[in-house]
Amino acid sequence: MNFTSRLLKWYNENKRDLPWRESREPYKIWLSEIILQQTRIVQGLAYYHRFLDKFPDIQALADASEDDVLSLWQGLGYYSRARNLHYTAREIAERYGGKFPDNYKDLLELKGIGPYTAAALASIAFNKPHATIDGNVTRVLARYFGITDPVNETKIKNQISEAANELIDPQLPGMFNQAMMDLGATICKPGKPSCNICPLNNECVARVKGIEEIIPVKTSKVKQRERFFHFFLLHTHNGNERLLLTEKREQNDIWKNLYQLPLIETPGVELTKKVMIQHPVLDRLISDNIPVIPEGRVQHYSHVLTHQRLQAFFYNIPLPSDYYPNFDGAYNWVTFGAFQKLGKPILIARFIEIFRDFFENK
Ligand code: ADE
Repeated sequence: MNFTSRLLKWYNENKRDLPWRESREPYKIWLSEIILQQTRIVQGLAYYHRFLDKFPDIQALADASEDDVLSLWQGLGYYSRARNLHYTAREIAERYGGKFPDNYKDLLELKGIGPYTAAALASIAFNKPHATIDGNVTRVLARYFGITDPVNETKIKNQISEAANELIDPQLPGMFNQAMMDLGATICKPGKPSCNICPLNNECVARVKGIEEIIPVKTSKVKQRERFFHFFLLHTHNGNERLLLTEKREQNDIWKNLYQLPLIETPGVELTKKVMIQHPVLDRLISDNIPVIPEGRVQHYSHVLTHQRLQAFFYNIPLPSDYYPNFDGAYNWVTFGAFQKLGKPILIARFIEIFRDFFENK
């Protein structure tokens, strides 16, 4: 038996039971692939079900507001996935009459759909022979062929992609791709692979040479950028309930269109008054003689993203009752309940949880 038939035989006997595999509906395949792009299956499953419950088809997703989609995505990270998901749902509803294009080239034109997702959709939903190349597939093939050059170099990436597209079963491309993913995730794992039970162990060059644990080789990563965020929990009482001030992140940066607490970013840990008076909200408070750091920093979190390390400091600033001036555009006074419903970076959601009792007891 050759590579492909060994792999497919193994898959038929060992495939993981995953809900999107019960269907060939492009909407469900697409949703699962977007969620799984940067998320582990165990975490992604709950979100997959929640999305399908709330938005059972592409039209329902297209009809939703971006805020609702971002709110449901809260906690998954890489929020551009959610914004693009929503954008593309609208595009497909409006431009394609609610039907996904059925070929790789047209799929690739859609926002949020890159070569990997276009290949996954084309193969799984439309039975077209395009190999999906992700970390799992790369590791399997680099080991199988004994590739010791860095797999993140373009030349090697292209070699791996060509090899996968030659190996793919043209009759069962979706099955082949998912078999590669499962083999990479469950047998040909990073670190110590389970070669003894691998269907390809006889011909795998890395296994034969005993070098499976050093493959795949990667050139070192770019250095992470360190950023310092100061968030202000500004809250007041309007006679009926407590209000807090939110800010919508509208700039092209991490967490675009998510809601946070008013923020000042500084180049180092220190926050000076000089910087504070350049912020429209804090400047207003200072000119109204409101003490802005009465209780100091109440919390500090470090948060690691792919290319950034965030140091987040939180300040609790109680304001006088009935003091909630209007600020421009991105800033709004909301109740705790309304804030809970907005899509927020998980860092903010975690922090505000500390104040739940305070806000709910008035
Ligand atoms: N990771 C990304 N897509 C997947 C799929 N269809 N099955 C298993 N793992 C995956």
